[in-house]
Amino acid sequence: MKKLLVTAALPYSNGRPHVGHLAGCYLPADIFVRYKRMCGVDVKYVCGSDDHGVAIVLSAEKEGKTPQEIASFYHDIQLENFKDFGISFDVYGATSTTESHKALSQEFFLKLFEKGFMEKNTTKQFYDESKEMFLPDRYVKGTCGYCDAAEQNGDQCENCGKVLDPDHMTDVVSVVSCKPASVKETTHWFLDLSRFESDVKEWIENADLRDHTRNFVSGLLGAGLVKRSMTRDTSWGIPLPIDDPEAEGKVLYVWFDAPIGYISNTLQMLKEEGKDPEEYSSWWKSDDSEVVHFIGEDNTIFHCVIWIAMLKAEGSYTLPKGVVVNNFLNFQSPGEKEEKMSKSRGTAIWLADYLEQGGNPDSLRYYLTAIAPERARTPYQPDALLQRNNTDLANVIGNFVNRIVSFTKKYVGEEAPTYTDEQLSDLDKEFLSTFATVKEKTATHLDAYQFKQALETVMEFARSCNKYVDEKAPWVTRKDDMDTTRVTLAVSLHAISFLSALLAPFLPFTSEKMRSILNLEPCSDWSGADRALPEGLQLGETVILFEKMEAEKWLPQDGVDGA
Ligand code: MF3
Ligand code: ZN
Repeated sequence: MKKLLVTAALPYSNGRPHVGHLAGCYLPADIFVRYKRMCGVDVKYVCGSDDHGVAIVLSAEKEGKTPQEIASFYHDIQLENFKDFGISFDVYGATSTTESHKALSQEFFLKLFEKGFMEKNTTKQFYDESKEMFLPDRYVKGTCGYCDAAEQNGDQCENCGKVLDPDHMTDVVSVVSCKPASVKETTHWFLDLSRFESDVKEWIENADLRDHTRNFVSGLLGAGLVKRSMTRDTSWGIPLPIDDPEAEGKVLYVWFDAPIGYISNTLQMLKEEGKDPEEYSSWWKSDDSEVVHFIGEDNTIFHCVIWIAMLKAEGSYTLPKGVVVNNFLNFQSPGEKEEKMSKSRGTAIWLADYLEQGGNPDSLRYYLTAIAPERARTPYQPDALLQRNNTDLANVIGNFVNRIVSFTKKYVGEEAPTYTDEQLSDLDKEFLSTFATVKEKTATHLDAYQFKQALETVMEFARSCNKYVDEKAPWVTRKDDMDTTRVTLAVSLHAISFLSALLAPFLPFTSEKMRSILNLEPCSDWSGADRALPEGLQLGETVILFEKMEAEKWLPQDGVDGA
């Protein structure tokens, strides 16, 4: 079995995480990693904050702090929020502070430079005189020089689709200062992506990618790859490691150093584990290891084209086995139209707020997986979260566990009953025979990164548990047939144990609670998930698995938040 290194996109450390972040990559990667751990795979979950880039410089300026202060502040908040949701990183570094990151990024650049892949070129760029800064594409707006459409971003005209540059835009305004932008010449080092077109093509044909991702990247290739500047004019970032007066005051492009963060954080992890950092080669440069990146849709080109080209150019790393891309989450209030999740419109649901209001982390994990935007954008609907929690979780899973365990304690005693094959009726056998299939089907979906379908499979099983007890009706049989009743309860307790194992990757807190109710250790092996209960097991304390979520508390009420 190969080693497996799983990454989730390094979030920019200039904001608090919301449900869109969780659903985008941190949660699916966590489910995958937890499942693989249970399968006995040597798997690591590597993440950390992406601290460089203009966005952080601008946030710092706005808040009157240094970029480092902003980065560290949000780094800590992000990590805490993710942990509170059970995201089980093996390391959470930071590109501004992880010890090896600077050296590793500079080495990487230098290698490309020495191999002749970095072409120096002087180009025109928009400049903000009042802020004394060059303006990246996203920070200018102006009129398209091809079709005269106003208010276009600096990279591409939304109206005619043409790629824009300072020679093909007029009336350009800096988004940062809202003042007219000027144009200045500046020198940068470019990576010619077109030289790696066939490598990228080969990679996308063989990598684990969802169809929409493969189609999107093929489209990019079809349109032709261009030269992209890998350096920037700013002081916040990693200085260029080359001896050239023109390199002065320039740093690596944030999208150059960020993915290298996956590697430097691996070194950091080994260091924290007390291992030799050089072991990183066994994760990154070995045929016995696979790397899988989990990202959101806006990161696709960087991971599936530029990063692949960078790795190919560098030459000593293995290419990722797969890139798992989720779309964005939209937002939809009851009776309203689906819209983009937006901080300014107040439709971003902050993870910290949810927890502060007493939200159960597993309820949100459940809902976000049930609506996972694996093929297209899907709406986060506050009322649907409640409904899912109250029906699927509280009624179906919570009630099943509760009624079986309470009933057993009341009529059989504290020791969990067990069954022998001879005691089983056809119905018992039929129900038990589904376990192996459910386990296999769930595993097949998980292996294929189909988290939503995997969870549906588990949920179907939970429903079948309720159906089974309803049909066996132990509350009726206990009056004159305790033998049958005991078997029903024994089979049901076995089902709870199995369900707790199936749920472990998805709902880790609940899974542990279920195990503690059964007085079992947390489930650590997938192959034994459907194992029968041991003889003589004393049941543990029952606890409520899911509180109902009340509309009055969780949904905006008319007249309070109304129009
Ligand atoms: N910071 C980027 C974002 O939030 C993601 C960076 S992923 C990595 O969109 F590859 F750069 F690490
Ligand atoms: Zn245009």
